[in-house]
Amino acid sequence: MDLYDKLVDYSQSDVYPFHMPGHKRQVGNPFLQEFPNPYAIDITEIDGFDNLHHAEGIIRESMDRAAKMYGADRSYYLVNGSSCGILSAVCGMTQHGGKILMSRNCHKAAYHGVFLNRLRVEYIYPQIIEEFGIQGGLVPEDVEQVLKTDHDIQAVLVVSPTYDGIVSDVEKIVEICHGCGIPLIVDEAHGAHFRYHKGFPVSALDLGADVVIQSLHKTLPAFTQTSILHVKGDLVDRERLEHYLQIFQSSSPSYLFMAGMERCLKFMEEKTEMTGGRSRMDQFYHRLVKLRKELGAMKRLRLLEEDQKGKNGVYDLDILR
Ligand SMILES: Cc1ncc(COP(=O)(O)O)c(C=O)c1O
Repeated sequence: MDLYDKLVDYSQSDVYPFHMPGHKRQVGNPFLQEFPNPYAIDITEIDGFDNLHHAEGIIRESMDRAAKMYGADRSYYLVNGSSCGILSAVCGMTQHGGKILMSRNCHKAAYHGVFLNRLRVEYIYPQIIEEFGIQGGLVPEDVEQVLKTDHDIQAVLVVSPTYDGIVSDVEKIVEICHGCGIPLIVDEAHGAHFRYHKGFPVSALDLGADVVIQSLHKTLPAFTQTSILHVKGDLVDRERLEHYLQIFQSSSPSYLFMAGMERCLKFMEEKTEMTGGRSRMDQFYHRLVKLRKELGAMKRLRLLEEDQKGKNGVYDLDILR
C-alpha cells in the first residue's frame, strides 16, 4: 500500500487522534475547511512576498504581529520545527568549543547542536515523580550551583514544560542566569498554548527567558513542522542567532507553513459568536476542566493533579496533558 493511500484510509477512520498535530485533522471543522487547496497558495520567494531569511515585508509584519501576541521583542517563524530553533539557539548563543548548561532531559536537537558546535556540557537532572514513573521539574538551585562554580558556561537551556506537562520554576532560573549575565533558552515546544488562557502555566517568555521556542503544531491548529522562536531582552546576539536560523532552515521556506502559522495565531485570538464572545481557549479550558473532573473518578488510572505542585521540582503543571 502507498503512503498516500494509507494516509487517506487513516483520515477516513474513526480513530481519535491523541497525537499531534494540534488540528487533529478535523476536516469538518470550518477553520480547516476554509483553508484553500494547498497547491493554490504554494509559492517560492517571488516579488512582493518577502523572504523568511531576510524578512522585511509581509513576512516580517506577520512575525511582528506574532511577537506582539506572545510579548516578544522579536519572533521568527520556523518551518523546520522547534528542532531547528533549538539547533540555532544552541549554536548561536555559544562559541564553537564553548560550554553550555543543559537539563539532561533535553530534546535530541539540543544534543545535535552540542555535537555541531563541539560544545562541552554540564547537566542538571530533573527530579523524578516516583509514583507516576515520570520526570518531575528542575530545581533552580541546581542551576545556581553550577553557574557559581563554572564560569565558562555561555548559555543555559532547559525544557519546560516536559512532554507530560511538568513546568519548572522558570522565573527563579531566569533570576539565577541573569544574575550571572547568562542567557536562558527555554524549550517550550509543548507550551505554545500557554499564553491563551490564565488557567495554563505562565509562558517562560513572560517570566523573562531570553529565547523561547514553541512548536505551534504540537498543541495548536497548525501544520506539522511549524514552530516559532521568540527573543526578548539584550543578552542575545540576534544577528548571530539569525545566521544560524538561515543555516538550519530550508532555503525554500514553505509559504503554506508560514500562512498556516499566521492563520493559526489569528484563529487563537479571535472571539466569535460561536464561542459566545469568549476566547476559544476559554471555552476549551472549561471543557477540559469538566473532562478532568470525570477522568478523576477513574478506578484504575490516576490523573496527575495539582497536588503535585511544590514537590519533585514541580512548580506548575499543564492540565491539557
Ligand atoms: C521537548 C521537545 N522539544 C523539541 C521538540 C522538537 O520539536 P519539533 O517536532 O517541532 O521539531 C520536541 C518534539 O517532540 C519535544 O518533545
